[in-house]
Amino acid sequence: MTNSALHPLPTTGALTGILEALAFFRDPAFAKKRFDHLGNVFETSMLGKPMVFIQGSKAITDLLSQPEAIEGWWPESVQKLLGSHSLANRNGAAHKARRRVVAQLFSSAALNRYSPGIINLVNELCEELKSATTAIPLSKKMRNFAFSVIATTVLGLEGGDRDKLFSDFEIWTKALFSIPIALPGSAFANALKARKRLLEKLQKILTRPIKNKGGLDLLSGGLDEAGIPLTDDDLAEQLLLLLFAGYETTASALSCLMQELLLNPPLEAWLREEIDNLIWPPAPEQATISYDPSNAPKLEAIVNEVMRLTPPVGGFFRRTKKSLIIDGVIVPNNRIVQVALASSNRHGVGDLEVFRPQRHLDKKCSLTLMPFGGGERICLGKSLAELEIRLMMVGLFRKLQFRVVPNQDFTLRQLPSPSPRDELLVNVKLAKE
Ligand code: HEM
Repeated sequence: MTNSALHPLPTTGALTGILEALAFFRDPAFAKKRFDHLGNVFETSMLGKPMVFIQGSKAITDLLSQPEAIEGWWPESVQKLLGSHSLANRNGAAHKARRRVVAQLFSSAALNRYSPGIINLVNELCEELKSATTAIPLSKKMRNFAFSVIATTVLGLEGGDRDKLFSDFEIWTKALFSIPIALPGSAFANALKARKRLLEKLQKILTRPIKNKGGLDLLSGGLDEAGIPLTDDDLAEQLLLLLFAGYETTASALSCLMQELLLNPPLEAWLREEIDNLIWPPAPEQATISYDPSNAPKLEAIVNEVMRLTPPVGGFFRRTKKSLIIDGVIVPNNRIVQVALASSNRHGVGDLEVFRPQRHLDKKCSLTLMPFGGGERICLGKSLAELEIRLMMVGLFRKLQFRVVPNQDFTLRQLPSPSPRDELLVNVKLAKE
């Protein structure tokens, strides 16, 4: 590209960034409005700090294909609550070494080991829903499920241990995207205390002899290689990250998926045609493939469409380490760049504002979706999340029928991940055989 084809970075002109920060949290169309006006790459100020927003596959590819020019970044509240050892807050060799260690928890062998546990959790939930005599908040159940998959199936915790972790975990997650000032009694101060207790509990788990539960025994080889002792604070922080990364995200995908289907009977009938021909439960050793895109293409299309329009992670961040060109725009060194997935997924030619899962079954569909991020920091739990979602959807629809309770608020709260405001209240009965 010649220098004359390059453009300086367009800006909103905001200085203090106070109104911009308020608008960012309140207005789901914040980024879209500014992209429409300023183009695919623009800068604004968020509470006095410059932040660049980007959208579109050209801009995202330009950013992620220059790993030497960028590093990971999270807002200060997330940085502090995850901790300095967390791989999310590390870069270069320290990041890579920890990713290699944690990735062992998500290998195909590990997923095969977790499958029976996840199938049990789905069956238990079906039993609970079946015997309920009042309306059930389905979103809450999806959160419990996503937490249990990580706490029980991956970390090997049971009963009391798991419940103790859950209550602190909820206090901790509430402040992840808050103002990081620990005034006594504030959500952030409470979250810091909860973080301390969570790490102590995780440490205790790591000092116990590892029985053949969960996947923690899978970590040992990689730990030696990375020079991290098993009982170190470092490892406890990586486990804490898994709870953060895999909880609201997976629960959000499941809740939005259920809401979309239950409010759209023709869509539900279209999916049921496919699910009625699948066997539940799958043989545990087949669970990772039984409902994959080749065996359940409609399910895959609906999941893709839900994650396109309501991505569980609406945006992720990088910091520039040198000046770089993104979609023809010069972005200076030391800028925080937010990849605005939510608006990116609606940007382009065609009916992209419309919910139409069939588009993903069309061979000509050229959408590039990145719900799990990309490049060197692509989501480590992608395969686990996909497995959880497929097993949950097939298990629920094979066994049960749902009727949404009328007159509830179906709009989505956006942070930390999209989720129905009234928790998606449903009445449940057995599915027709
Ligand atoms: C539908 C569910 C999920 C979605 C949409 C999702 C999405 C994402 C995204 C967008 C990123 C940031 C990638 C980047 O910066 O380029 C990420 C990172 C990460 N995710 Fe997920 N995630 C999901 C579930 C999970 C689960 C179940 C786990 C593990 C239990 C997990 C573990 C992680 C970890 C450890 C990272 C940090 C990777 C790094 O910084 O190198 N995620 N995820």
